Amino acid sequence: MKTTRDTHTNEYHHAMGRLLALYTQVDALIGDVCADRIATAPDDAARRALIKQVGDEGRHVAIQHEWMAEFGTDPTPVVGEAQAAAIRAHFRDLPWLDFLADLYVAVEALGGEAVQEIVPIADPGTRESLRIPLADEVDHVAFGLGQIRHELAGLPEEERRAFLTRLPERIDTLASALHGMGIDLKGLFQAVGVPYAAVRDAVLTRRADLLEDLATAR
Ligand SMILES: [Fe+2]
Ligand SMILES: [Fe+2]
Repeated sequence: MKTTRDTHTNEYHHAMGRLLALYTQVDALIGDVCADRIATAPDDAARRALIKQVGDEGRHVAIQHEWMAEFGTDPTPVVGEAQAAAIRAHFRDLPWLDFLADLYVAVEALGGEAVQEIVPIADPGTRESLRIPLADEVDHVAFGLGQIRHELAGLPEEERRAFLTRLPERIDTLASALHGMGIDLKGLFQAVGVPYAAVRDAVLTRRADLLEDLATAR
């Protein structure tokens, strides 16, 4: 079996293993929070999209588990069980529009942007393991943004503006919560060869684009 140990350092191998484990755990959590929302989705189209996404995330978890076993990485979860339970509870209790903002803008679009930064420097096996998951995330984000636009179009102007004013803070609160979980994201990215400044720039650029895009939604 050919592993990245042939061409990469142990530091890379360990850090990439942790990033893969984190991505897999986040996918599993996203599947859980989407499953929790199926019964209360606003209409059949949203229900179908959530059901499809639960299937997609399950497939991503399976792909990543298979790759992590081959890669020979430590399977210990990165996010602790109490933290995972808190994340599930957070999403379960949100109003639909806030759920969409937190899941699709903050987690899927901006988290996915950070994962994208790994692709160019990743070993071939890791890159291949990310191909299908990242392609599906594009669909998930498109669904979430479409739903947000749809919801905003149905809101009185004042509420629409209030949501858009609150949105940057929602994104930042969730990002700080992630950074506050004790995961050394900066160290992990640097160890695999992605300068953290590049990740931050990519995420901030995408954040600005998304906010601008939603601000013009009618
Ligand atoms: Fe996923
Ligand atoms: Fe997704």
